[in-house]
Amino acid sequence: MKPQVIFVLGGPGAGKGTQCSKIVEQAFNYTHLSAGDLLRAERGREGSEFGQLIDNYIKEGKIVPVEITISLLRQSMAETMTKDQTKNCFLIDGFPRNEDNLQGWNRHMEGKADVKFVLFFDCSNEVCIDRCLERGKSSGRTDDNRESLEKRIQTYLNSTRPIIEQYQKHGKVYTIDASRSVDELFTGISKIQNSPS
Ligand code: ADP
Ligand code: C5P
Ligand code: MG
Repeated sequence: MKPQVIFVLGGPGAGKGTQCSKIVEQAFNYTHLSAGDLLRAERGREGSEFGQLIDNYIKEGKIVPVEITISLLRQSMAETMTKDQTKNCFLIDGFPRNEDNLQGWNRHMEGKADVKFVLFFDCSNEVCIDRCLERGKSSGRTDDNRESLEKRIQTYLNSTRPIIEQYQKHGKVYTIDASRSVDELFTGISKIQNSPS
C-alpha cells in the first residue's frame, strides 16, 4: 500500500512537533517525520557533505534545497515501511515549506504517495516567537533566538503561507487554532477524521 501522508505546517514554534508526538502515541500506524529534525541530524552526521550548508540555512532561517530534504524524507519513509509494512502513514512536519519543496515532492513522489490533507497550525507571529524563545532556553537550537526568528517568520510569511494557500484552494487544509493549550489543541485534532470538510 502506498504511503499515506499528512503534511503538518504552521509558523515556527506553533506546536507542530509537540502535537505530532502526541498523535503517534495514539495512532500506532502513524510515524512522525520532522523535516527540521532530519536536517539537524544530517547536519550532525559525521562525513555529511551537507553539514555546513544545512547549518548556514538553519541559522539564516532559509529553506534548504529540496533534493537534500526529500532524500532524507524518502529514506526515513522507506526504512519505516521496510521494518513494518503496516506502518505506511506519515505525519510530515515542516514540509513542504516553499515552492521548491513542493515541486521536489511532486517530482519524486507524485503517484508514489497519497497526500491526504494539510494540518495547518494557525497562530500569531507573537505566539510563535514567544514559544521559540521559551524553547530556546533549553533547546540548544542555533535558531531559537530573536535574530534568526525574525528571518524564520519572514520565510514563513513569504514562502510557506503561499503553499498553505495553494492547498486551501483545493479544499485540502484543516486549520487548527494553535494559540490554545497543548491539551485543548490535541482534543481538537483528535476529532479530525479522514479528510477536511
Ligand atoms: P514547532 O515544532 O511547531 O516548532 P514545538 O512543538 O517544538 O513547535 O513547540 C515549540 C515550543 O512551544 C516548545 O517549547 C513547546 O513545549 C511549546 N509548546 C508547544 N505547544 C504549545 C501550546 N499549545 N501552548 C504553549 N506552549 C506550547
Ligand atoms: O521545522 P523546524 O523549525 O525544525 O525547522 C528548522 C529549520 O530547518 C528551518 O528554519 C529551515 O532552515 C530548515 N528546514 C528546511 N526545510 C524544511 C524544514 C526545515 O530548510 N522543509
Ligand atoms: Mg518542530
